[in-house]
Amino acid sequence: MPVMNRVALVAFAALACSPTDDTVTDTGNQRTLPRDVHSYAQPDSARVTHVSLDLTPDFAAKRLRGTARLTIARAASADSVVLDVRDLTITSITSSRGDTLGFKIGAAREFLGSRLAIALPARDSTQAQSDTIVIAYETAPTAAAVQWLAPQQTAGKKLPFLFTQGQAVLTRTWVPTQDSPGIRQTYDATIHAPAGMRAVMSAENLSKADEKDSAGLSVFRFRMANPIPPYLFALAVGDIAFRSIGSNTGVYAEPSVVERAAAEFSEVDAMMAAAEKLYGPYRWKRYDILVLPPSFPFGGMENPMLTFATPTILAGDRSLVSLVAHELAHSWSGNLVTNATWDDFWINEGFTTYIEARIMEELRGKPYADMLRQLGQQDMQDAVTELDSADTHLKLNLAGRDPDDGLTDIAYEKGSAFLQTIESVVGRTRLDQYLRGYFDRNAFKPMTTEWLLEDIKASLLTPAEIERVKPDAWINGAGIPTNAPVVRSNALAAVDSQVARWNGGTAASALQAAKWSTQEWLHFLRALPDTVPNARLAELDSQFRLSSSGNAEILGQWLLIAIRNKYEPAFPALARFLTSQGRRKFLTPLYTEMMKTPWGTTMARDIYRRARPTYHSVATGTIDKIVLAPGG
Ligand code: BES
Ligand code: ZN
Repeated sequence: MPVMNRVALVAFAALACSPTDDTVTDTGNQRTLPRDVHSYAQPDSARVTHVSLDLTPDFAAKRLRGTARLTIARAASADSVVLDVRDLTITSITSSRGDTLGFKIGAAREFLGSRLAIALPARDSTQAQSDTIVIAYETAPTAAAVQWLAPQQTAGKKLPFLFTQGQAVLTRTWVPTQDSPGIRQTYDATIHAPAGMRAVMSAENLSKADEKDSAGLSVFRFRMANPIPPYLFALAVGDIAFRSIGSNTGVYAEPSVVERAAAEFSEVDAMMAAAEKLYGPYRWKRYDILVLPPSFPFGGMENPMLTFATPTILAGDRSLVSLVAHELAHSWSGNLVTNATWDDFWINEGFTTYIEARIMEELRGKPYADMLRQLGQQDMQDAVTELDSADTHLKLNLAGRDPDDGLTDIAYEKGSAFLQTIESVVGRTRLDQYLRGYFDRNAFKPMTTEWLLEDIKASLLTPAEIERVKPDAWINGAGIPTNAPVVRSNALAAVDSQVARWNGGTAASALQAAKWSTQEWLHFLRALPDTVPNARLAELDSQFRLSSSGNAEILGQWLLIAIRNKYEPAFPALARFLTSQGRRKFLTPLYTEMMKTPWGTTMARDIYRRARPTYHSVATGTIDKIVLAPGG
């Protein structure tokens, strides 16, 4: 063996395995990972370091078919590797030499799927402490991560479309791997798509123009060279066009949507500059945004290099693009430094919500950012009112539950309020400096709440400041600690005066609302009393055309009021809204409100019966419980 190779091999073995305790250590992580209750993996014994996919979507059968070639770092004593799988059909598992490997799939558990244990071949002396295994498999038509859209569900209406949604534990329904956010993996992929369609992924696009395989399918190639948590693996295939926005930014969308999207997101370069100035270099080369068909169940998903976004943020006036600032911010908080388990989810979303407002402050100024912050504080208060006390802690305990249960405004807004509290005590300069160092020191590593707490106490706060911030109360206590700074936006205070006038009987035509932004409108609508006479709603509607608003946030808020007050003139718009988009954040409150009365229940069931086939499983999982639950 040439000297260089031997040196490299020994170095790799030392990194991958500590000889004293016979465990695999994550090369990027010096600390022992806590156990992830949402994964079967035993990464101390054998862990996946790289995934190489070769997949062909079959749109007629709604299946992805192909192979996953996994690179595995193993401890000396490990004779098997454990993966997470859910609803996958495994055809064979072989070693890189083609030998068949034995495997066993355990019983399926709700959310978690099954444990897949694969026997690893005995190691011979020529092998490094890493193995390659090849899994031939196909996904189920019902795979929770994958939505297969009929042409009717797309803007173009001609070609089908597919996209995946990995977070939190859905990647295991389309990729057999260790599906835990603490187990980072690089990946590459070859995707074979029908003629006329384009594949995009959360990775660098290495496709050559017009490459075809032997079956005549278009070939697309991708590589993600940074180790990422598997919930960020993402794929979309459809009639997808591209428009460049800047030197390393652009927009993908269906051809009829792409120009509108490029105009809406024209500030992305400015957002990038603001984020880099505050938190250090962007480490993912390109930043593109894929605008999906309207059934995408989230507002946005921070898939690296390629944010996935709902078309409902295309308001035409850039008024909802703070969502892009949010997903871009995840390029630091979430994708660089990642919650080690879903109990630490606030480390992803709380930091990101804080940074989102900071980016928007750079772009639009403090008065604008303060509107966002105050609306967020209201969401936070609502969450505290609605949730069980234990679910209002930042550090959660989601054992035995769907990690989606942690997706509340506690993670987002209480998390952000915690950072705002630190800022109020140490000042921006010191917090910014700390955060910049935090991202550098922990880049491409998992983070637990406990490690973070320790680090803040050791490297940011003085003992006196710890007394003032009370980090333990924020993290392990219920509700909102009293030291949370209260944001008072002047613009929203002015809206409150208009609400008071309106409540006092002032006509809609006399309200000073002509120049209101989306955020001012949202505040106004949220501040209206629970009960408003129909005549007064009609007045507002005819003055401000709320039922035909093209702004999904304003429309959603207005329709909630319409249901509450049985304001029937808005019901056609309600049915249209619920059957034309599938963003869960809009669906949940509207169906919930309808289910509160017998007439509303009838309406909800009627609309849902028509709409359900168009929603993603993430949305139906939630709405089934609201509309179809026995007694509901
Ligand atoms: N990462 C989240 C979406 C998510 C969280 C999906 C947990 C699945 C499980 C994303 O960054 C997000 O927070 N999206 C928000 C928008 C944001 C502006 C609050 C959404 O989709 O509404
Ligand atoms: Zn987020």
